[in-house]
Amino acid sequence: MPLGSPLPEGRHSTSARITMIIKSNLPYYIYRAANTLYRWRIPVLPYLIQQFLRFGFCCFIPYKTQIGRKNIHFGHNGLGVVLDYRCVIGENVRIDQEVTIGIRWDEKTAPIIGNNVRIGAGAKVLGSIRVGNNARIGANAVVLTDVPDGATAVGVPARIIHKRELSLVDDGERE
Ligand SMILES: CC(C)(COP(=O)(O)OP(=O)(O)OC[C@H]1O[C@@H](n2cnc3c(N)ncnc32)[C@H](O)[C@@H]1OP(=O)(O)O)[C@@H](O)C(=O)NCCC(=O)NCCS
Repeated sequence: MPLGSPLPEGRHSTSARITMIIKSNLPYYIYRAANTLYRWRIPVLPYLIQQFLRFGFCCFIPYKTQIGRKNIHFGHNGLGVVLDYRCVIGENVRIDQEVTIGIRWDEKTAPIIGNNVRIGAGAKVLGSIRVGNNARIGANAVVLTDVPDGATAVGVPARIIHKRELSLVDDGERE
């Protein structure tokens, strides 16, 4: 494509794309650095980075949490997001602002979030539960029970409103 020619709709230049990724995902990359240092058994530094995230971005993403490596997105730079260090998050997950993923007071296990999941603003996902692949959690939902693959859960406590038929094509499109 000749230099300076307009990009087709929906396409961005490489530098614009890099800027977009860094801007929208900075907390994730900072978490990733802390998690790597933690896995290398470097002392103190992961904690300091975690605290930098806490005060710099107002989100609590513990360096010990297991989060997937592909296409993780924190809406609004993770504003108000609180994760328990015991939760497990898959690949291609979008977590909007003010989301909490943590334990219920009476148990010590945190949720497992599958792949291709979207969690809407303000949702709370609590307890020893599993959110299936391709699931969606509505804004402000309080999820206390398992969410099946491809389901959409909304409300307090959350109920399932849609259950999509999933196919391999559907999965592929989300990659
Ligand atoms: C959950 C969500 C994905 C559902 O979208 P959808 O599949 O288009 O669902 P619909 O709009 O058809 O709604 C279906 C039903 O669920 C209800 N519903 C939808 N979202 C809801 C929510 N967050 N909380 C409670 N009820 C909700 C609707 O009122 C409707 O109820 P009814 O059948 O009794 O009329 C969407 O509503 C949502 O919450 N998205 C998150 C958006 C977000 O967090 N944005 C952040 C931007 S910064």
